[in-house]
Amino acid sequence: MKKRYTLEQKRWDDPAEHAMPEHTRVPARFNIGGVEIAPATVLAPMAGVTDTVFRRFIKNASMFSADGSAGLTADGVEAVTSNQQSGCGLIMTEFTSADGLSRMRETKRKRYLTYYDDEHPISAQIFGSNPETLADSARICQDAGFDLVDLNLGCPAKRVVACNGGSGLLRDLPLIEVIFKRVRAAVSIPFTVKFRMGWNDHHIVCVELAKMAEDCGLNAVALHARTREDGYTGQARWEYIAAVKDAVTIPVIGNGDIRTPEDAAAMVDATHCDAVMIGRAAPANPWIFRQIAQYTATKEATGVGSYEVPTDADRYRMIRTYFEMLVDEIAIEERAEAARAEAITASGQVAREQRNRDCVGKMKQFASWFTHGVPGGSGLRKSIFEAKNGAAVLGSIEEFFEGRANATPHNDSGLEAVHEPEAMIA
Ligand SMILES: Cc1cc2nc3c(=O)[nH]c(=O)nc-3n(C[C@H](O)[C@H](O)[C@H](O)COP(=O)(O)O)c2cc1C
Repeated sequence: MKKRYTLEQKRWDDPAEHAMPEHTRVPARFNIGGVEIAPATVLAPMAGVTDTVFRRFIKNASMFSADGSAGLTADGVEAVTSNQQSGCGLIMTEFTSADGLSRMRETKRKRYLTYYDDEHPISAQIFGSNPETLADSARICQDAGFDLVDLNLGCPAKRVVACNGGSGLLRDLPLIEVIFKRVRAAVSIPFTVKFRMGWNDHHIVCVELAKMAEDCGLNAVALHARTREDGYTGQARWEYIAAVKDAVTIPVIGNGDIRTPEDAAAMVDATHCDAVMIGRAAPANPWIFRQIAQYTATKEATGVGSYEVPTDADRYRMIRTYFEMLVDEIAIEERAEAARAEAITASGQVAREQRNRDCVGKMKQFASWFTHGVPGGSGLRKSIFEAKNGAAVLGSIEEFFEGRANATPHNDSGLEAVHEPEAMIA
């Protein structure tokens, strides 16, 4: 009989204290409707975070190591290669409005659905409440070459819920069933759903919803083990992931509060989920996937899991890499616009200025996340927020890290620092 997870078993304060049975390990692979995902780790969709730059940044996380020893632990245990080198098996887009997608001009759509060849396998996440529009946009994602399409039934943001999208739909299971059927009929690529447990504690629907997904031909489900009313408060209730896993035969992806490789292994042990999904820990600690791969490999080889913790030099290299990738992406977009002769128009100029502002905004946001856990980081974050442009942001970072190249590594997940925009409900 499967072991059921209870709250008493959780040891958040110090996961290292949690005595884990031998079989505790994130699976090497799993399969969603014929798409092989290896290892069984998923980068959670995050609005304002998981754009193409961030997704590729996570997939290339191995480049941040000074000696380039990606996939090798201190014990010299070889972890894996390619996707497995980064440790991240599947990436997902930020959620995209189905209404918006189906109305947009082709060029604008391309901008929303931009991804590069090295991002496969990649899943496009859509939200909305109109079955026809959702089916149309799923088809658009399929035509754009995505490997999977995912429906968002978890977003707690007021403006999304107000249109009955995201977690708003959790109050209307019959409508969800219609949506499942329409979207399923519209696409041949694997179709998945990501949801919360229910609207609130009086209305928990996750098991019923997962069964309905399976009956309607969906290929996997992902559960963020909180209700809409929970927002991000308290602890994710992993026992509901275990309950969903017990109820269906399609793969179940567990999500909520994974901060460390030990947490990832503990979730698999506690729930028997097929894969783990990681959100807020990724922008705060982009090494998390690689650390999980290292932990899994060392545990398998030696019986004791271990992983590298980034030094300040690694952190500095990583911030610079991310900034360079952001700037490169802008240059690519501008070249594409010039080719379409958009840049010489007034609207082209406005778009360009907006993009530069967005770029500096992202630099500030990410620099702040990336420096959580670094002693003295709060002073750095203050100067970053006062910086007027990208060069000034970089200048503050360079100044801060100068002379700290060999400082002691830190392992702070920084989870609390990453917030979902508009989602922190009162
Ligand atoms: C900044 C931010 C943006 C998010 N955007 C989305 C989204 O677009 N779609 C979605 O399904 N969930 C979204 N989420 C929720 C995450 O995917 C994930 O379910 C949640 O953060 C719990 O996982 P974690 O504890 O690993 O962070 C977002 C979360 C954050 C913090």
